[in-house]
Amino acid sequence: MNLQSHTKNLIKSIFFKSNNAIQRRYISKSIALCKTIPDNAKSKSSHEWLQRQINDVYVKKSRYHGYRCRSAYKLLEIDEKYNILKTGYSVVDCGAAPGSWTQVVVNKLKLDRPLKDGSAHPNVAVSVDLQRMEPIKGAFILSESDFTSSLTQEEIWKILPGGKANVVLSDMAPKATGTYELDCSSIINLVYNALRFATVTLKKDGVFLCKVWDSRDVEMFVKTLDSLFTSVKRVKPKASRMDSAELFLLARGYKCNKFIK
Ligand SMILES: C[S@@+](CC[C@H](N)C(=O)[O-])C[C@H]1O[C@@H](n2cnc3c(N)ncnc32)[C@H](O)[C@@H]1O
Repeated sequence: MNLQSHTKNLIKSIFFKSNNAIQRRYISKSIALCKTIPDNAKSKSSHEWLQRQINDVYVKKSRYHGYRCRSAYKLLEIDEKYNILKTGYSVVDCGAAPGSWTQVVVNKLKLDRPLKDGSAHPNVAVSVDLQRMEPIKGAFILSESDFTSSLTQEEIWKILPGGKANVVLSDMAPKATGTYELDCSSIINLVYNALRFATVTLKKDGVFLCKVWDSRDVEMFVKTLDSLFTSVKRVKPKASRMDSAELFLLARGYKCNKFIK
């Protein structure tokens, strides 16, 4: 029996012995967590992964609040501090699967509920990912779509009212190769692509938020952002694991009509 099924059986046996409703709920969530162990996780690393998932407060919170993954809290924390998601805004979410950022967006923009007078929302949330994404009420989902392809970007512009957005988000991450420098340069390529798209899509004073992995290339990218936006901040939300090289660049106040190649 492998570690994953052994752990699953162990948790299940505790579950069936427990009479306490809260304990049963928690344990049943732990069983669900076991089911989501990535296929490529090997025994030692899958054990560590499982331990971390079970103990992670943001994993517990996301299950409790119905978010598709713990990443939701990174965006929630950034938004709480900088107030970037407002009703009436149109938002593009690049690299959106499984969808927790989109869940936050539709909720903050109130796109998941009808307008009081019953009319259609004039603004939209558009989410794109290479992977298959389940629908999210209030969002346009471009599933199994490569954001970097011009066809996808044209499709996004068609959905956006007037082809314009107030906020472009990128939580895109390439598949890790295991070679840090290579992965860093792949994510930088992705954010340059998102930024190029943002410069022709954002309204004046628009916001661009993207994830990068800390590397020398980030400095250069920040300089480019500085030339396009009035304020650029490096943000490391508490929900972002301390041992992760990930950080977010928040650029506000798009100067408009400034483009990059
Ligand atoms: C960290 S996950 C995003 C999590 C998401 N923000 C959430 O809260 O659910 C990174 C995603 O970027 C996507 N991605 C990477 N390259 C992409 C590309 N070229 N086009 C679209 N999505 C891409 C991956 O498929 C992956 O789902």
